[in-house]
Amino acid sequence: MTAARPPLLTCNRVSKHFGALAAVNNLSFDLREGEVLGIGGPNGAGKTTLFDVISGLNPATGGTVMFEGRDITRLPPEAICHAGIARTFQLNACFESLSLRDNVRVAAYFGRDNRRYPGLSVGKEADDQAGEALAAVGLTGKDDVPAGALPVLDRKLLMLAGALATRPRLLLMDEPVGGLNPRETDHFMEVVRRIVQSGVTIILIEHVMRFLVQLSSRVMIMHHGERIYEGPPRGLTSDRTVIDVYLGEGASQRLGRLMEEAAG
Ligand SMILES: Nc1ncnc2c1ncn2[C@@H]1O[C@H](COP(=O)(O)OP(=O)(O)OP(=O)(O)O)[C@@H](O)[C@H]1O
Ligand SMILES: [Mg+2]
Repeated sequence: MTAARPPLLTCNRVSKHFGALAAVNNLSFDLREGEVLGIGGPNGAGKTTLFDVISGLNPATGGTVMFEGRDITRLPPEAICHAGIARTFQLNACFESLSLRDNVRVAAYFGRDNRRYPGLSVGKEADDQAGEALAAVGLTGKDDVPAGALPVLDRKLLMLAGALATRPRLLLMDEPVGGLNPRETDHFMEVVRRIVQSGVTIILIEHVMRFLVQLSSRVMIMHHGERIYEGPPRGLTSDRTVIDVYLGEGASQRLGRLMEEAAG
């Protein structure tokens, strides 16, 4: 009998304190390969801070983060990206004056390996990776458009392409559909579904609950840096604390109906 594979990611008693504020407080969870973990919770719950901790942008003040059995808690962000964790941001982040393709080429070039001599040619491998990432999000054909001229949906897809160009095993997405209309949200959901099918493990933060519950295999709701719910999406609408702290009665009932319809 073979031993069960270890989790892809383990957060063990992770905390992030800003002075007296415990933005993330003693949080533990595992993530297995192929899962989509959806994180929700009120403003200020500590969701983005958790991503900052995992991605090394703002390291934990306590606890450990393990990725593929390796302690990455204190690694710098570029090393964590090179190890196979990519992320997108709540606010759009791109090089406005660079073309769409050049934005993704930069990510492909710097996102996989240490580059001691930036400025030398990007090379065919990074160029191919950029092309694949643009195709994966459906932006092929807009290569030469300056990123600053793109509409909001395309900017969000571009940020996702940049993350994919680093060939992650784990992708963290922070409010990927915030500010999109329902049709654009559906479009984005299809793109994410294809990424899941390609074998990338995902953690996504989202306030748009329809998006969160339809994509996630498991959901975690945070409040004041702690977990108040973890389990299947269907359990959310019958959890008293989640309804009181986050969803409210009306939204909870609408979400419940949506999940019943989706289940047929
Ligand atoms: N660099 C920082 N310095 C001090 N406090 C911070 C810092 N970053 C975040 N915080 C605080 O930590 C708490 C958690 O913030 P965080 O951005 O993680 O919330 P969030 O769950 O992502 O909220 P939202 O849904 O609004 O994006 C908030 O009280 C916030 O003000
Ligand atoms: Mg946030």
